[in-house]
Amino acid sequence: MQDIQFSYAKAATAEAVNAYKTQVANCQEMLVKGTGAGNDFLGWVNLPEDIKPQLADIQATANLLREKCEVIVCIGIGGSYLGAKAVNEALMSSFEWLEGKKPAIVYAGQNIGEDYLFELQALLKNKRFGIISISKSGTTTEPALAFRLLKTQLEQQQGKAEAKELIVCITDAKRGALRTLATQEGYKTFVIEDNIGGRFSVLSPVGLLPIACAGFDITALVDGAARMAEVCGIDTPFEENPAAQYAAARNFLYGEQGKKVELLVNFHPKLHYVSEWWKQLYGESEGKDGKGIFPASVDFTTDLHSMGQYIQDGERHLFETVISVETPNHEVDFPHDEANLDGLNFLAGKRVDEVNKMAELGTMLAHVDGGVPNMKITLPVLNEFYLGELIYFFERACGISGYILGVNPFNQPGVEAYKKNMFALLDKPGYEEASKAIKARL
Ligand code: PA5
Repeated sequence: MQDIQFSYAKAATAEAVNAYKTQVANCQEMLVKGTGAGNDFLGWVNLPEDIKPQLADIQATANLLREKCEVIVCIGIGGSYLGAKAVNEALMSSFEWLEGKKPAIVYAGQNIGEDYLFELQALLKNKRFGIISISKSGTTTEPALAFRLLKTQLEQQQGKAEAKELIVCITDAKRGALRTLATQEGYKTFVIEDNIGGRFSVLSPVGLLPIACAGFDITALVDGAARMAEVCGIDTPFEENPAAQYAAARNFLYGEQGKKVELLVNFHPKLHYVSEWWKQLYGESEGKDGKGIFPASVDFTTDLHSMGQYIQDGERHLFETVISVETPNHEVDFPHDEANLDGLNFLAGKRVDEVNKMAELGTMLAHVDGGVPNMKITLPVLNEFYLGELIYFFERACGISGYILGVNPFNQPGVEAYKKNMFALLDKPGYEEASKAIKARL
């Protein structure tokens, strides 16, 4: 079977990367035996196998929502949103909205934009819609605010009894306001296990239900992840283990070459949100204790016409990790033109992807020449199975990489700071002292 491939050939020597072998082996052991920091958040390690008994229930719930709804609103933020958005955007048609596919999947609770919510409410007016409300803590402000607004609208449009059948909550088994509400109202629920952090939860109901609602094959996605769990496992030798090599190479570039910024690059516009998901995974896992590679992303060739100058020629603190899709799902051949006024007849008869691939190769060589090391991840095609492989590959490498860096990859203490200030500024009960203090600073 062909799997996704990883290469660091244009970024580091084998000698430099292999020097991390022992360290990587130790980190793998910490992940598998649970002996490292954050070891109460390792539920994702075996999730591709552990989730299989729940797939039928997730699919059945998705089928019900798909039958009943014109629009399904997925409410969540951060890890409770980005995984599903990444997979759905990668697999759906680029013009799905105009094609009128039902049900349409939309997102809320990932911002506090009043205009966004106004426009969403207007869109949903008199439409039959359903809600998947996702929050592990059950107390995050952005999704809670969106849920209250949309639940109210749904109840007004459908009546309370019918609305109840159109709402599914995914949250903690016992704790949090969302759990209390779901129990009280009798909503269908799925549980986010205690030992799975938000950014590692895409292969739990958090990601799988919205993906199944969009009509994609969650069994193939999970199978791909399970396959990668094997390929990246502790028993695979370092030289054959893509997650081990990626973790080692990026730590070499950061720690020994002064490359502080990693750009995740794609040449496939549908991968934009895979990069957004990846940025959360690596940013929240590694950016702490004054350390960590800054994860950024670009969509090529689009961004070669905006960020290309800096990448080629600006400060040399960058390296790139390119996600390349070997074969597109569709074929477009470039036509011959008698007049050839655009001078493009040299491309006649070629597939558009051939042009894209030469752009990819040319960019890689140019950037390497410009002092930007390049690593490459190759997907045979863009489908559920290989996205599953990619997800697990990145998760596993993230756990190893964070441990090499010497941080706890599974906490996110820095995310709380803005919340405390926001609550103090909004006079939330319990924040009286903080309110006084923060207002004195203004
Ligand atoms: O990875 C994380 O833990 C966070 O990004 C959370 O996913 C995000 O803050 C949303 O939290 P919750 O699911 O509790 O609403």
